[in-house]
Amino acid sequence: MLDVFKTSKKKKENKEIVLDQNNIPKHIAIIMDGNGRWAKKRKLPRTMGHKAGVETIRRVIKESHILGIKYLTLYAFSTENWKRPDEEVSALMKLLVEYLRSELAELNKNGVVIKISGDITKLPKEAQSEVLEAIEVTKNNTGIVLNIAFNYGGRDEIIRAVKLLCEEVKSDNIKIENIDEKVFENYLYTKNIPDPDLIIRPSGEQRISNFLLWQCAYSEFWYSNVCWPDFKEEHLQKAIYDYQHRDRRYGGV
Ligand code: IPE
Ligand code: IPE
Ligand code: MG
Repeated sequence: MLDVFKTSKKKKENKEIVLDQNNIPKHIAIIMDGNGRWAKKRKLPRTMGHKAGVETIRRVIKESHILGIKYLTLYAFSTENWKRPDEEVSALMKLLVEYLRSELAELNKNGVVIKISGDITKLPKEAQSEVLEAIEVTKNNTGIVLNIAFNYGGRDEIIRAVKLLCEEVKSDNIKIENIDEKVFENYLYTKNIPDPDLIIRPSGEQRISNFLLWQCAYSEFWYSNVCWPDFKEEHLQKAIYDYQHRDRRYGGV
């Protein structure tokens, strides 16, 4: 058993969260939501919310590593987020570049393997090269897999997989009758990443927003009203604690 202490500002509310170390979710996926509302509450521009959200990313990766999570997927930009004002979109692209530039060495030192789910060919050249470098530099590491979902959409991913599979069938590499779930999964961005055990969404929204539509078939969901910049280690611990008290039946009894 792993003892994790919940420290609350109000002393009398201090509660100890004891996590079962034999039941730590292997893969946690997070919809990092609420940056804009966090900023609005403080009368700041939305982009300041995104900046503050990066701090949370640092904390959550560190805590995930400590807790022994093997895969962490962070939803950072959806295929629908292009609808936002140009300046917000460019700020998010810039943040990705800045984040990788400032963190890559440290992540690499800690054995993090960086992966990307999403169509990066649509990103500005600068962002594409940062992303490719991060993947290349960390590919032989053996630590936690940090899968950044960027320009990611679940539907887009499924259509892409279908197209790739059609090509395989056309060139006689695969027979239609041999296509099953296992084969299909090899054409998803998340190839070689197990399905998320736990999907976390802060900010009060309770929807999937085109995230991991195929992979979430049997994921447990956990919601919180805090906005992403306010999401702390204790929220991650509580999410895991609740997860450990769920009964995953996978359609069985
Ligand atoms: C999540 O925060 C970050 C991205 C979607 C890029 P939002 O920007 O969606 O914040 P809200 O939902 O408007 O508060
Ligand atoms: C989902 O958040 C996408 C990311 C967090 C990257 P959104 O803020 O875009 O989702 P909706 O619009 O509230 O569904
Ligand atoms: Mg949002």
